[in-house]
Amino acid sequence: MSWDLLWSLLLACALVYLGVQLIRFVRADGDLTLLWAEWQGRRPEWELPDLVAWVTGASSGIGEELAYQLSKLGTSLVLSSRNADKLERVKNKCLEISNLKEKDILVLPLDLTDRSSHEAATKKVLQYFGQIDILVNNGGRSQRSLFEETNLDVYKEIMDINFMGTVSLTKCVLPHMIERKQGKIVTTSSLMGLGGVALVSGYAATKHALHGFFNSLRSELAVYPEITVMLICPGPVQSNIVENAFCEEVSKKVENTGNQDYKMATSRCVRLMLVSMANDLKEAWISEQPYLSFCYIWQYAPTWAWWLTNKLGYRRIENFKSGLDADSSYFRPLEKKSN
Ligand SMILES: NC(=O)c1ccc[n+]([C@@H]2O[C@H](COP(=O)([O-])OP(=O)(O)OC[C@H]3O[C@@H](n4cnc5c(N)ncnc54)[C@H](OP(=O)(O)O)[C@@H]3O)[C@@H](O)[C@H]2O)c1
Repeated sequence: MSWDLLWSLLLACALVYLGVQLIRFVRADGDLTLLWAEWQGRRPEWELPDLVAWVTGASSGIGEELAYQLSKLGTSLVLSSRNADKLERVKNKCLEISNLKEKDILVLPLDLTDRSSHEAATKKVLQYFGQIDILVNNGGRSQRSLFEETNLDVYKEIMDINFMGTVSLTKCVLPHMIERKQGKIVTTSSLMGLGGVALVSGYAATKHALHGFFNSLRSELAVYPEITVMLICPGPVQSNIVENAFCEEVSKKVENTGNQDYKMATSRCVRLMLVSMANDLKEAWISEQPYLSFCYIWQYAPTWAWWLTNKLGYRRIENFKSGLDADSSYFRPLEKKSN
């Protein structure tokens, strides 16, 4: 074989390889480490049964779906949020769709902002199950408002729920994990923990704070290799997050939640969360394109990210003001302004 032919063959192989990788990236709904773990790594079905998982924000959206998928795996559950009735509904559905028994699910109403109650709640879980293998810090609220128009109380409140509530519960559970020298602390962050866009300045601040906190805590816990600290960063996912978001005042509700259908299916997001837990991934990005590319650009080319978010931010604000959901607005035509 001539050298020319050999080089042509190698070039063709390289182009095919790059083409395949490009197609994989365009179709990806998680970062490439996560998708590799899903393909070749440990399966949730092997790793998560017979453990005890405490899920906050279990009454709705991602946390509710986590309860369903974990129950099907045979993971015992502690379900927490503020609304006991909704938690009972989730518990009953878990019992319907899984082999778990009544005693395997503890409904434990909890307000993340009521930090003085967290120690007692942790004791209750430990008295009931004797162990906590996985703490899923999932409860939280988002935001849809411009900084200029938003009362500072909203920033305090959202920080209290998303950041202080999560830190407080982690502080209560961690000594137990240290005693056992094992456990998983899984926190639902967001793509907004990696970057920022208009209308979510307070929310993005809470998620960035969680990254700073847990990345530091992870290194403090390096002496306990069986205690893993994970940050899960979903992009737009179907849930009630927009309906429950803060806006300009603490008591004000989002007026128009827009169409949420284009968002990633909750079941797929949660499946990838379980893959992350089974494989102890320290950080996982779960999102369809083009939002996934946003993570890579923020991570590896922030100057481009700033330029891009300025362009998209304008569009996001315009569309939000005209009643569309902010997340969906980037790739839709601008609404005509009424003069
Ligand atoms: N959906 C998305 O597009 C998306 C994207 C990235 C990250 N996330 C994150 O995913 C997590 C779950 O959100 P979701 O999308 O499932 O929204 P969701 O449907 O609104 O669920 C939020 C959950 O948090 C609970 N919660 C709110 N305030 C609380 C408080 N003070 N104390 C205790 N629990 C509280 C709610 O329960 P109660 O009202 O009963 O208390 C509910 O169960 C959040 O951390 C969010 O930031 C979501």
